[in-house]
Amino acid sequence: MGKKILVTGGSGYIGSHTVIELQKSGFDTIIIDNLSNSIPEIVDQIARITGKKPLFEKFDMTARPALEEFFKRHADIAGVIHFAACKAVGESVADPLKYYHNNLVSLIYLLECMRSQKNQPKLVFSSSCTVYGQPDQLPVTEKAPVKQAMSPYGNTKQISEEIIDDSARQTGIASISLRYFNPIGAHESALIGELPIGVPNNLVPFITQTAIGKREQLTVFGNDYNTPDGTCIRDYIHVCDLARAHVVALQRLLEEKNETPHEVFNLGTGTGYSVLEAIQSFEKTTGVKLNWAFSGRRPGDVEKVWADTTLANLTLGWKAEKGLDEMMATAWAWEKNMAAGILNNLNKNK
Ligand code: NAD
Ligand code: UFG
Repeated sequence: MGKKILVTGGSGYIGSHTVIELQKSGFDTIIIDNLSNSIPEIVDQIARITGKKPLFEKFDMTARPALEEFFKRHADIAGVIHFAACKAVGESVADPLKYYHNNLVSLIYLLECMRSQKNQPKLVFSSSCTVYGQPDQLPVTEKAPVKQAMSPYGNTKQISEEIIDDSARQTGIASISLRYFNPIGAHESALIGELPIGVPNNLVPFITQTAIGKREQLTVFGNDYNTPDGTCIRDYIHVCDLARAHVVALQRLLEEKNETPHEVFNLGTGTGYSVLEAIQSFEKTTGVKLNWAFSGRRPGDVEKVWADTTLANLTLGWKAEKGLDEMMATAWAWEKNMAAGILNNLNKNK
């Protein structure tokens, strides 16, 4: 039997891909998810891919008694990868208390439960490049100052990192926060991928839903930015590369190779692409012509951001391997599978 790893939010987009990588590396996995933004069929899909169904417990992590009881039943958890959170920037502006409550209360309860475990599990946390706002220097390194958050969602990531930092020093719960740039794409099997509920906020699900005919037209927000083609630049990273990084980070903690109680790493490819370059890559790799048009800027958008990944490359020995075309091709294969009805329960995805 492998070491037991708790993956909170493990039926979600990045969590499900990470469960697969953990299983491939010999870990046993348990998922906690309240299914607020995912569907239980994803757990079956993981089993189809790996041949092993992860344990799954459905409850809300802000329900403290349920979490305490869970940790009593699983005294042997060696590590926790904490994905569970709400993540829609716009919704967080409309309903900030929902975001502060869900994202911070669940983290605090988790840390309290971890602290009371005899064997002191390790923690890997989902952070975001949103903590940098618009960096003064590009590519942005982990040493760049954390800027005033642009949204309550972004603020929950900043506060979470601070909570983890303080608690790691005091409780000895060794932790790594991973600052993701823009995760896109899907598993090569096309059996799992991103499941945006309602109208997607993010670029790539909007591209694939437009291409499949679910949306009429993609709106490109802004063509007057200070970038070569006037559209915003992001560092898109394949979700499977991202998933692999979580396993490497966890192994670093389990082998006690971490140099400080709380380490922080950027996870990107190190290359920025504009919105128009992303569209071109999609059209080139899929052969599908996209219906799109410019509109004004989207409030709150950062103009350009891409990662300096030196720290993750050298310290974790991890490097993103998949390029933008592969990200688009896998996102498209997943969208086509969903359209073909691969999942039984697509009600929430309409
Ligand atoms: P996701 O919504 O697909 O997955 C999150 C999962 O957590 C969902 O399955 C949801 O049902 C579950 N969840 C939420 N609150 C919960 C609670 N209180 N109790 C139990 N389960 C709960 O999101 P994702 O894209 O996989 O993101 C995972 C993590 O990565 C999040 O913390 C997110 O903020 C962070 N992140 C995501 C991105 C991105 O662009 N996808 C970028 C940076 C950081
Ligand atoms: N965009 C469009 N049209 C759309 C959607 C997006 O032009 O329909 C543009 C945006 O204006 C931006 C780029 O595509 O220039 C990328 O936008 P996304 O919404 O896909 O990604 P963001 O960089 O805005 O934000 C994402 C997540 C955040 C996370 C951040 C960093 O939504 O939660 O990446 O990880 F914090």
